Order: sequence, then C-alpha cells, then structure tokens
Amino acid sequence: MNIVVLVSGGGTNLQAIIDGINNKTIENTKIVEVVSNNANAYALTRAKDNGIPAKCISPKDFDSRDEFNEALVEEMDKVNPDLIVLAGFLVNIPAKMVARFPKKIINIHPSLIPSFCGKGYYGLKVHEGALKRGVKITGATVHFVDEGTDTGPILLQKAVEVKDGDTPEVLQRRVMEEAEWVILPAAINMISQGLIND
Ligand code: GAR
Repeated sequence: MNIVVLVSGGGTNLQAIIDGINNKTIENTKIVEVVSNNANAYALTRAKDNGIPAKCISPKDFDSRDEFNEALVEEMDKVNPDLIVLAGFLVNIPAKMVARFPKKIINIHPSLIPSFCGKGYYGLKVHEGALKRGVKITGATVHFVDEGTDTGPILLQKAVEVKDGDTPEVLQRRVMEEAEWVILPAAINMISQGLIND
C-alpha cells in the first residue's frame, strides 16, 4: 500500500508511522511522499532524514485559496496513493480531493470525537478546550475524512486520563504518547491488511 502523509508541524505522528513501518507493526506499506503546507515544518526534515520524498505546497505561494487547493489535488492525482494520511495537517481538505479519494483519506484528531472537534479545534486548542470543560477522560480518534470537519466515519479511538494540574502542553504530550502514536499506525495497518470494510 502506497501512502502519502500530509503534515503541518513537528511530525511526531509521521515519526510514529515511519517507526511502525520499520518495526513491522505496519505491514505492506510504503510512504511514497510527505507533503507539508508549511516550509518550516520539522516533519519535512524527518521525511528527508528517512529518505522519503518531501515537498512543501504552501497557500502563501499561490494567489488564491482555490489555486492552492488545485495544486494540492493535482499533487495527489499525480502520486495517486492508495491512502492519504493527515498526520497533523492543519488545512481544510478541498471538497474536490475528498470526492477524488473517497474512503482513502484518514485523519488523526487529538480528542474523543464528537467532543472537542470541528471548526477551531486543532492542535493545542483541543486540549485547552478539554481542560476548560473539566473532562476527566480525553483521547484521540482516527477517522475517514468526508466533506465535513472531523465528521467522517470513526476507525479507532483510545481514551487517555486527564490528571490534576495538567497544562495543555502536558495533556497534549500524554494524548500523543498513549493514544495518537498507537492508533494512527494501527489504523494504517488495519487498512493495509484489508481489515476495514467500507
Ligand atoms: C497532533 O496532536 C494531531 O492530532 C493534531 O495536531 C498534532 C500534530 O502533531 N491534529 C489536529 O489537531 C487535527 N485537527 P505532530 O505534527 O507532532 O504529529
């Protein structure tokens, strides 16, 4: 299974996928390209360090959002992967891309959907929301991407405890370690092994 991983930042989830492929918890899978919307994303360095083709497609390099969207869809068409993995990709996926790759795009979100998801909930903001509401359990979700924001069918979820004194940063790290870096590689492996019926 050929996958493209889309990233925006540090790329710890990308690293979990690379590690999963190397230690064979993800079978029969190759990362054929990493694409970032942010030229300074450390995820791009991780890709290069691991010999994976990496490129930046930034909205800043286009006159309009439509042109950026078009470039992103064109890139995916060109590479034509079996699966597109949004691993901390903080960009709205163009409707055209969803239509072109039905049930072939998955996303990792750092909460138990339907809590703390949708517009405005990304990255640290998700954990700020969870702490503000005072939930005692949070977690992460891997889901298929549809036309909405965080609304597609859920593949895997894992719960994580919120502890007294947590800051958004501390909680974010626990959710990554205990949930995200576990369920994202697991979901990719389930798909590569044909264990997901769509
Ligand atoms: C992760 O926590 C991921 O779940 C989140 O961004 C972070 C990226 O970290 N994604 C979203 O909030 C999507 N709505 P990483 O670059 O170290 O993988």
